[in-house]
Amino acid sequence: MTTTTCTFQANPVRGRFNAAFFTVMGGYLDWLMRSRKRRVFADLPDEIVELGPGVGANFRYLRPGTRVIAVEPNPAMHAGLRTRAARHGITLELHDVVGERIDLPDASTDMVVSSLVLCSVREPAQVLAEVQRVLRPGGRYAFVEHVTAKDRPVLRRIQRLVRRPWAWTFEGCSCERDLAQLIAGAGFASVDLEEYRIHSPILPFNTHVAGIATKAA
Ligand SMILES: C[S@@+](CC[C@H](N)C(=O)[O-])C[C@H]1O[C@@H](n2cnc3c(N)ncnc32)[C@H](O)[C@@H]1O
Repeated sequence: MTTTTCTFQANPVRGRFNAAFFTVMGGYLDWLMRSRKRRVFADLPDEIVELGPGVGANFRYLRPGTRVIAVEPNPAMHAGLRTRAARHGITLELHDVVGERIDLPDASTDMVVSSLVLCSVREPAQVLAEVQRVLRPGGRYAFVEHVTAKDRPVLRRIQRLVRRPWAWTFEGCSCERDLAQLIAGAGFASVDLEEYRIHSPILPFNTHVAGIATKAA
């Protein structure tokens, strides 16, 4: 049962900026995360739910013909998402709703994926509850996310310094969330999670987690 009233506040200017940013920078960001994405997005079924797909950064990891139910509330992303889906032969079903309130029935999918999304949603715990709700028993959630640099004092200080302009520019994104702890405590039967550091000049973005959480069978 979903209790949130969460909605997405679209901002036309920053929305367009972010759509352009992820279109232009997507290849580079993907390159930074590629080894983990290859691992956690391997062996995906023919139909998946993707949270916050943006302009389709992860479609390159899907077989042509894959059906993607895209939970993407930002209208600025939709045109790029459709274009990228057509380019990769993806059958796109676009749901203009937030991850906190997914308009899918209980136990209706075997696979949910996300990259760089739990940092941006308003209520990450509620999104994880929704992931559990829509997954069938034994279903999997594959994620690649950037997180707080809790064990790296210098990076952590930089994250604190930039948190306001960062969140403003990237439409609510936080570089300070302890998503490892949140996912581990979200009630999955098992969580295979790797914490790692990437090396990019975008310093607040350099601490990541990737993994697969499995719902009880
Ligand atoms: C940093 S972008 C990442 C986009 C893409 N997944 C990628 O890896 O390039 C964050 C994405 O999450 C989406 N988003 C923001 N709030 C959301 C919410 N409450 N539910 C679902 N998606 C959301 C944004 O619209 C955006 O597409």
